[in-house]
Amino acid sequence: MKAIAVTPGQPNSVHLRDIPEPDINSVPEGKGVRVRVLKVGVDATDREINDALYGNSPPGDDYLVLGHECFGVVEEVGPNVRRVKPGDYVTATVRRPGGSIYDSIGTYDMTSEETYFERGINLLHGYLTEQFVDSEDYIVRVPQGLKHLHVLMEPMSCAAKAVQQAYECQRRMKVWSPQRAFVLGAGQIGLLASLILKLKGLDVYTLARAPGPHLKSEIVEGLECTYVSTSETDLEQLAKQVGKADLIIDATGNSQVAFAAMQALGLNGALVWTSITGGKRKSEVPSDKINIEWVLGNKLLLGSVNANREHFESGIKDLAMGEVMFPGILPRILTSPVAGLENYQEMMRLLVEDASALKVYVDVAQE
Ligand code: BGC
Ligand code: ZN
Repeated sequence: MKAIAVTPGQPNSVHLRDIPEPDINSVPEGKGVRVRVLKVGVDATDREINDALYGNSPPGDDYLVLGHECFGVVEEVGPNVRRVKPGDYVTATVRRPGGSIYDSIGTYDMTSEETYFERGINLLHGYLTEQFVDSEDYIVRVPQGLKHLHVLMEPMSCAAKAVQQAYECQRRMKVWSPQRAFVLGAGQIGLLASLILKLKGLDVYTLARAPGPHLKSEIVEGLECTYVSTSETDLEQLAKQVGKADLIIDATGNSQVAFAAMQALGLNGALVWTSITGGKRKSEVPSDKINIEWVLGNKLLLGSVNANREHFESGIKDLAMGEVMFPGILPRILTSPVAGLENYQEMMRLLVEDASALKVYVDVAQE
């Protein structure tokens, strides 16, 4: 069957190849699920893997099938599968467990081992192919009524984890009812995090460079959040105007912004970093000022990667709520379909060159 793959370590090696079909019996205990892939989302991670900034093949292979944001339909299930049945729409988690205690209790997104396993990213093949097989443990059902949001499930799981982790950590405060959030970046994670925070009742300011109106600013406002163009009002000015934030989520992909955000966080607040920055950028920060403010203000910095089943499930609920509260807004994120696996060059072109492509995804097959 066809797959879009790269040769890890070799820049711009993206290609179409033929790979063996998966076998449902390769999953032990009759818990295998065979999924026919319908759509796969791609993002900066895929671009950076194709730039050979990171990414590794599974042992024994010299290629890596790309794609970690999947949406498909169940075709066949093993005898002991109970969570899904043929015909169900599904997505799948990205990480697979290693050997730490966190891996063994289903929180593989919190592994304490250096080596992590991520489908389509590190040491495991991804979903940009015609079908895949996995254990039901990693397959998450997508409600029929949300199938039009298909590839957003995985990015949403990452946003859901980032927010949940902040709340979890803030239990240190005994009482914490954040009112103001700054979300940095209006890409998929920024927009989805804005939705989650809005649903939690915060005043959400979503920041990105370009002055509106444009698609991103319209989506932000459609979610009843406030769009702020940093070329008009930078983070420092915003903090002066409306006050520092109780919670900041950085999803810009820019480490300089991630560090700069430390100066816009209020007392007892939490700053969450979610960007994977494969580059070598350096930045100068007023470290004495930040240091004293952070100590005197009991501020928290937290990194959040990936997501487990629970985050997928809660993210899906928030997507459903988002569609009910703000009808028709979320589908606008899904800007840029690519027709078929054969069009992998077009997929990369959109990722690399087209700044207006908010979400690129491959239409792998029709239902
Ligand atoms: C994916 C995450 C993954 C991360 C780091 C992101 O693009 O959405 O699931 O953990 O990359 O590899
Ligand atoms: Zn991703």
